[in-house]
Amino acid sequence: MPDDTTAVDDIVAALTLEEKLGLVHGAVDPEETATGYVPGVERLGVPEFRLVDGPLGVRVPGRSSTAFPASISLAATFDADLARRQGVALGREAKAHGQDAVLGPGLNIIRTPHCGRNFEYFSEDPLLSGAFAAAVVEGIQAEDVVATPKHYVANNQETGRTTVSAAVSERTLRELYLPGFRAAVDAGAGSVMTSYNRVDGTHMSDHHHLVTEVLKDEWGFDGYVVSDWFGTESTVGAANAGLDLEMPGISQEELRTAFGIEDSLDFEDHDGMPDATETGLFAEPLGEAVENGDVHEGRLDDMVARLLRQMKRIGLFDDEEREGELDTPSHRRLAESIARRGSVLLTNDGALPLDEDADVAVLGSSATSAMLGGGGSSEMDPFERIPTADGIRERASGTVTVERGIAKIEDFSFFEDSNGSDHGTVESDIEAATAAAEEADVALVVVRDTVSEAIDRADLGLPGDQDELVEAVAAVNDRTVVVVQSSGPVELPWRDDVAAILESWYPGQADGDAIAAILYGDADPGGRLPVTFAPQSDYPTADERAFPGVDDVVHYDEGAFVGYRHFDAERVEPTFPFGHGLSYADYEYRDAELTDDGTVSVTVENVADRDGREVVQAYVSPPEVDGVSRPVRELGGFTAIEIPAGETVIVRVSLDDAAFRRYDEDEGWLVDEGEYGIEIGRSTRDIRLDVAAIR
Ligand code: GLC
Repeated sequence: MPDDTTAVDDIVAALTLEEKLGLVHGAVDPEETATGYVPGVERLGVPEFRLVDGPLGVRVPGRSSTAFPASISLAATFDADLARRQGVALGREAKAHGQDAVLGPGLNIIRTPHCGRNFEYFSEDPLLSGAFAAAVVEGIQAEDVVATPKHYVANNQETGRTTVSAAVSERTLRELYLPGFRAAVDAGAGSVMTSYNRVDGTHMSDHHHLVTEVLKDEWGFDGYVVSDWFGTESTVGAANAGLDLEMPGISQEELRTAFGIEDSLDFEDHDGMPDATETGLFAEPLGEAVENGDVHEGRLDDMVARLLRQMKRIGLFDDEEREGELDTPSHRRLAESIARRGSVLLTNDGALPLDEDADVAVLGSSATSAMLGGGGSSEMDPFERIPTADGIRERASGTVTVERGIAKIEDFSFFEDSNGSDHGTVESDIEAATAAAEEADVALVVVRDTVSEAIDRADLGLPGDQDELVEAVAAVNDRTVVVVQSSGPVELPWRDDVAAILESWYPGQADGDAIAAILYGDADPGGRLPVTFAPQSDYPTADERAFPGVDDVVHYDEGAFVGYRHFDAERVEPTFPFGHGLSYADYEYRDAELTDDGTVSVTVENVADRDGREVVQAYVSPPEVDGVSRPVRELGGFTAIEIPAGETVIVRVSLDDAAFRRYDEDEGWLVDEGEYGIEIGRSTRDIRLDVAAIR
């Protein structure tokens, strides 16, 4: 190890061409722990470098880590501090496994509710997505681990993800799809992962405008840009566009061996899986390109320097032990806290919170397993997992009976049984479930969807006989409570026939404990919807051109009108609006005012006899401008706060300038002069007060 004052540039200058190439594409990890591996250059003291999935927890084959709730659950907390704390935990667990970069957070905008990876992303709103991406990045980087915001950019579906081209305007990119990545870069991310898809015809690995002109030159990003796995489109095009590191750089067979990927999951089988034969593009082919002048050696030096600078930044050149921690009590508590706080109470006729001594029937396919996540690279294998029914049994004073009632809804897994779901399909036996429901004070039905990377959902309905089960149970017990464990919006046709609905997303390892805490009122359901729930035909992507696209082109014709921006502009009533979430408490808002520093303050009183957790949201409604179509309102800021029973607090929401501006394709960012409405409320459809702001 050289004297560690040796500057990165000196190392680069000392490297041979062969050694430089070895630092810009992946290789097989001799320890078989890393998702992506870069061997070091021992001669010059350059250490090896390991990259590991994923956003929900550190995935190392054959080893366990804490399985945090789905990212959409984290965003539903509207509390970015929790996200930062999760980032810290991810960083510490990555180090405990000997890893140096976490391949997360995932922050693609939830453009279509069908996307198979919505559970790995945060929201339909760019401000919320950016706030959470930045917080997770800060946490990971604080632990001297490289964060890797992904997948840059406009990777909003899984269908044909490696070939489709997003036909999206510059304004839409700037106002909706880029801001989250900008926030993540400004938060100090050491890396960014390019997506598989094309944007306006060019693969993202080869996209000079977005990778070099925007990300590196305009935003000043000085980390390394890594491809998605087998997602490098070319050697010369990608290197000259600004890609710095090709992953995995090894063959599919070598990858399978390293990860024990089930043979049944043949990469080519799924429309959304990459062509794994295209690999090693930054090995000899790049060397040849440098030697023949197609790629300037200075570009190769920059590629290497960007990685080495991040290695140095996180201390890999120091001779210090990189200590981390795994599965600590604080990580377990954090996983449960996020799952509790991310749970959204959609409806409640008073059945919740449950009476302590209620006799409960716990029903449904996933009642007897913990809902960890969807299939794909984010799969986790935690040290412990608490099935929903176990959490209820632990918490209940009354009797608890458990009946699945329907055939097991199988997970889709990339790996051998990594979700630990207790396989074993039972035939549907709805009668057994309804019999149990009739005997109980409360019938608790746990329902779920099934999603995976590389596959989009065919519709927003619940798979299997779940709707039938809910309807049959609701018919025999008027205190039927449904817990929905989904990746995002789902259709709930029986929503008016049940007493209460709790959307818990994928709660992760703490499933049962978190659900029980909310249902019994030990914690207020603090979650609010980071996505709009609506019938699938009402979304702006309902048309085939918009999703999944026609002739490999996905037309983002809706522009910035995604999610609530669409429903507001079209005046369509959603099933449950963005920002919606009931509390067990009740709040009155008064005396809103705009202070000089661009902060909104509002008085909020908890008029109930129960402590509550409120999320105060502020939306900015712009002035009319001829010839310019703008959303009716855009999230400008939010504050989550505990308010004890009977207490009154002054809540401050700082407004992000981004919510006032718009992107003009000729003039760039601008703020129209005029009066802006600042709307303060509990959701986009529950505005309590508004104040004016002049710009
Ligand atoms: C996958 C995913 C990406 C993941 C990577 C490594 O295809 O798109 O999110 O980090 O490959 O597993």
